[in-house]
Order: sequence, then C-alpha cells, then structure tokens
Amino acid sequence: MRIFSGIRPTGELHIGNYLGAIKQWVKLQQENECLFSIVDLHAITTPYNPKELQKNILELAAEYLAVGLDPEKCILFVQSQVKEHAELAWILGTITPLGELKRMTQFKEKSKKHPDYVNAGLLNYPLLMAADILLYKADLVPVGVDQRQHVELTREIARRFNKRFGPVFKEPQVLLPKMGEKIMSLQNPTKKMSKTDDPKGCLGLFEEPEEIKKKVMSAVTDSGKKIKYDPKRKPGISNLLLIYSLFSGKAIEKIEKEFKDGSYKNFKKSLAELLINSLEPFRKKRKELLTREVYIKEILEQGRKKAQLIAQSTMMEVKKQMGLF
Ligand code: TYM
Repeated sequence: MRIFSGIRPTGELHIGNYLGAIKQWVKLQQENECLFSIVDLHAITTPYNPKELQKNILELAAEYLAVGLDPEKCILFVQSQVKEHAELAWILGTITPLGELKRMTQFKEKSKKHPDYVNAGLLNYPLLMAADILLYKADLVPVGVDQRQHVELTREIARRFNKRFGPVFKEPQVLLPKMGEKIMSLQNPTKKMSKTDDPKGCLGLFEEPEEIKKKVMSAVTDSGKKIKYDPKRKPGISNLLLIYSLFSGKAIEKIEKEFKDGSYKNFKKSLAELLINSLEPFRKKRKELLTREVYIKEILEQGRKKAQLIAQSTMMEVKKQMGLF
C-alpha cells in the first residue's frame, strides 16, 4: 500500500499528534511504501513568524526521527520543496465548487479564530491537502479524526477529476487509529488537545518530567471519585484512562480494576510516572538529533528527490489528460 500523511511545522508535537497519527505511521512504515511530509505550505495559512519557520521545519524533522520514523523505510520531505504540490492544488481548485470548501469545519473554525486573517489560502487549504495525497496516489491516509472530512473531500475531488478527464487518481481512504483518534485537552476535556488553541491543556511529546507531572496532576476531572471510562459523563477521567491505556498497552477495563479503590490523585500520579518513563527516550533522542542539522538536512534532501520523482510523473499524467501538455 502507498501511504501519505503530514503535519504542519507549527511548534512541538503533542501526545495527540502522536496517538492520533504518528504512532500508526511508525508501524505502517514496516510494510508499506510511506511518504511523510512536513507541510509548511499549510502552516502559513494562519499567522506565523517567518523567522521561525525554518527552525520549526528542522525541529519537526528531528521529532519525526526521534519517535521512530526511519529514513531507510519511508520518505521524509518538506512539502514546499516539491513544487508539484502547489501546482496540482491550483488545478484541483478549478474543479471544486466553492460551496464544498466553505462548508469545511476547519475553515469555519479557523476563520472564527483569526477573523482578521481569513485569507483565500485558508479556504483553499483542503485543495492543497488533496494535492498532497493525490500526487502520490496514496491508498491510505493515517490521521486523527479531525482530518477525516478533508480526506473525504479528497476522494470526491479524485472522483470528479477522473470522471471529467480520465482515470488518473486513486481514491484514498482515511485510516484512523483503533483508539486515540481524538485526544482531549487536559484542561478542557470536551475539546480536542491542540497546541495552538489550548497550550495549557496540551501535553508536549518532549516535555520535561516536571512539566509532565504538573500538567497531569492539574488535569481537569470531575467531582466524583470513581475511575471509570464514561466519556459522556466523565470526559476528563476517560481521556486520562485512554492515554494511560495507549501508553501502557493495558486494556482500559484492566486499569479501571487496578485503580478501583484508588483516588484520582493516585491515578494521576501513576499516569504522570508512566508518561515520564514512556516519553523519556523520545526527549533524549530529539535533543541529540537537534545537534545534527547536516544529517537531518541530508535526509530531507534524499526524501525530496524521491518524492519529486513520483510527483512529477503524476503531474505529467494530469497535464496530458487536461490538454495542458
Ligand atoms: P495537524 O498538523 O493539525 O495535525 C497533525 C496530525 O495529528 C492529528 N491530531 C490529533 N489526533 C488525535 N487527537 C488530537 N487531539 C489531535 N490533534 C491533532 C491530526 O489529525 C493530524 O493527523 N491538514 C493536516 C496536515 C496535512 C495532511 C496532509 C495530513 C496536510 N496535508 C495530507 C494528511 C495528508 C493538519 O492540519 O494536521
């Protein structure tokens, strides 16, 4: 299977990104042809600091490697270095009705959040994402559930293109993790964990032990006592149980039993310890990798070359079918 996914270089990864997306990527790279991108052209649709973008790109590359992506097993590259992404996005815009872009949840949310910066790029964001996926004729797109709507639109766009111009694109399928498709904020457990929307409720994947402890111990729960998985009535505790289960590999029911007579405080202490131990190797590896800029740039350059070969070949097909060549 061909796999494509990407993350915006907007700051450190959090455990939501890991559990929703990257943890799957690390497994998938073993037996599939995978491309994982640092999608910088998507990152510039919301306010950002140009002086920090290159640094964020390199850091995200180091983070990809630190959590276990292996450049021998997958293609790692920076989106803007393969110009075909922007080129295909333009073309896809010419066959996509405006209404379909306007009804995207992310567009609505982001334009509400940045009312002074509702640029056309924000509206066209899903076209670029469709271009990312379709250029490589990906079969599967492993993401968290917040990105499902965009992958569904990508399928629709592929269908429309193929019908009008001939069969070029594959219709990709979204691949959600069995558990962890939406990790909630530690401070606001009815909202998605997000580095940009809610930094306090967001647990970084490379956070220092002290910080992990602080954030977990102050996670919002409820006034009850029972450690039970019940997302509707107990969203805070349920989110913590889910995180516990995903990092320990233990079933939720087993954890509930273990903490049957325990307090929220004890449960949180144990979760903090589990997270500190689980994340320690990632933090160490990231730190080490950040001192090896030349090595990381070389990996991205190799990735660019490989990605570009595929992208150019698809683009040639697209242009031929459309009468542009
Ligand atoms: P981005 O950069 O917002 O997020 C990266 C990935 O992390 C997942 N994610 C979560 N999963 C579970 N719980 C959470 N709280 C959580 N927060 C984030 C996201 O679903 C995503 O998989 N548009 C994309 C980037 C993109 C892309 C693509 C993805 C651009 N082109 C092509 C796939 C294929 C985005 O903004 O992800």
